[in-house]
Amino acid sequence: MRYHSLAIILHWVMAVAVLFMLLSGLAVEYLATLTPADKFKLIQLHKSFGICLLVAFFLRVAVRLWQKPPALPASFKPWEHHAAAWGHRALYAMLLLMPLTGWLMVSSSPYGLPTIVFNIFEWPHIPGLAANEAVNGATRLAHTIFAFTLLALIAIHIGAVGKHFMIDRHNLLHRMWWTKKGQD
Ligand code: HEM
Ligand code: HEM
Repeated sequence: MRYHSLAIILHWVMAVAVLFMLLSGLAVEYLATLTPADKFKLIQLHKSFGICLLVAFFLRVAVRLWQKPPALPASFKPWEHHAAAWGHRALYAMLLLMPLTGWLMVSSSPYGLPTIVFNIFEWPHIPGLAANEAVNGATRLAHTIFAFTLLALIAIHIGAVGKHFMIDRHNLLHRMWWTKKGQD
């Protein structure tokens, strides 16, 4: 009646990490009070967590294919099944496209700054793209558009959980946590 424990752990760890990514990305971009040194440090952290999220994405998809999610409550209407399936697919797409466009962006940057994950090891740039203005411009734009798409999807996602809780009296959080047997 609930997701596999690995899926639950990945869901919540990635949810917290994604929120940090959105906040840190927006802070770097729009918070005028940040000093250049703070900005630099925050981008290094942003890139480090972003690369971890790229790796975590593949782990999560593997777990998803290995362990089927629990069936939705019987009271769910057909349109709700479709909305949940497509909403989740869209979230997965953004979980891949965000780090990919970020990696492409730093690989094609005119500055060529390395990505040192948590100051421990260097994550390579995608070869053949160094200082490629066209790729850099396109992936920078895509990173921003996908970020706002992801923000909207998360708002809808949380809204849907809230709607099922308040209107349909189904607490879906039991399916994504280790509380009771999780009938609802
Ligand atoms: C506080 C915020 C969040 C809450 C309360 C929440 C809650 C949930 C719940 C209850 C489910 C299970 C749905 C079901 O019953 O089938 C779920 C699934 C899912 N959540 Fe979240 N979530 C949150 C944040 C996020 C974030 C930030 C992401 C990704 C960016 C995300 C991605 C997903 C995906 C992809 C699934 C579908 C899992 C699958 O069936 O493969 N969630 N979420
Ligand atoms: C789930 C993963 C990620 C999320 C949610 C995310 C989110 C964001 C957001 C919201 C911004 C601000 C965009 C704007 O308004 O213009 C941003 C900027 C940025 N991101 Fe990411 N990001 C992710 C992964 C990555 C990765 C993996 C890298 C590189 C390895 C990266 C590198 C950057 C850089 C360098 C900027 C600043 C761009 C500039 O200088 O204008 N991001 N990110």
